[in-house]
Amino acid sequence: MAEKIRVMLTEEEVDKRIQEMGEQISRDYAGKKIHLICVLKGGVFFMCELAKRISIPVSMDFMAISSYGQGTESSGIIKIVKDLDESITGEHVVVVEDIVDSGRTLNYLLDMLKDRKPESLRLCTLLDKPDRRVVEVKVDYTGFSIPDEFVVGYGLDYAQKYRNLPYIGVVELDKE
Ligand code: IMP
Ligand code: MG
Repeated sequence: MAEKIRVMLTEEEVDKRIQEMGEQISRDYAGKKIHLICVLKGGVFFMCELAKRISIPVSMDFMAISSYGQGTESSGIIKIVKDLDESITGEHVVVVEDIVDSGRTLNYLLDMLKDRKPESLRLCTLLDKPDRRVVEVKVDYTGFSIPDEFVVGYGLDYAQKYRNLPYIGVVELDKE
């Protein structure tokens, strides 16, 4: 079966929204410095685009986690594959994610980061699938709320493919 990608959000729509989010964050943290934490690998495209549109001082760090799950379901039990390089104690931290789905991964990750005593801790996600939520997570900045469909592009993958698409698409199996 071949795969087809149906466009859900165009490159222009995504860029415009990220611009707005960058401006919003810059206003909310005016006079402060923020520390962006990117969750690899999916968050990397969004974080780079977002960071370029933030006008206050920014520092960045990266974290890689793996989630023990079955297929496309995450379990919420996560393992740190690559920890942050720097301490976040006293920092205004914004976690930058590609998508919040069940909420299990973020719930676990945010709890863990809270223990490291940041000055403040917020979550910024490009996409949110609220219908899929199993565990409550407070999302402070959402790019787009989307329906329950499996999406790719802008960092999101399907079996490690399609991360490089400059738009958000839905994978459709093409029965030939
Ligand atoms: P959660 O713990 O269920 O919220 O899982 C979040 C993670 O699952 C995201 O960071 C993605 O890596 C992955 N994920 C959830 N939905 C999608 C999707 O539609 N496309 C690609 N990856 C997804
Ligand atoms: Mg992710």
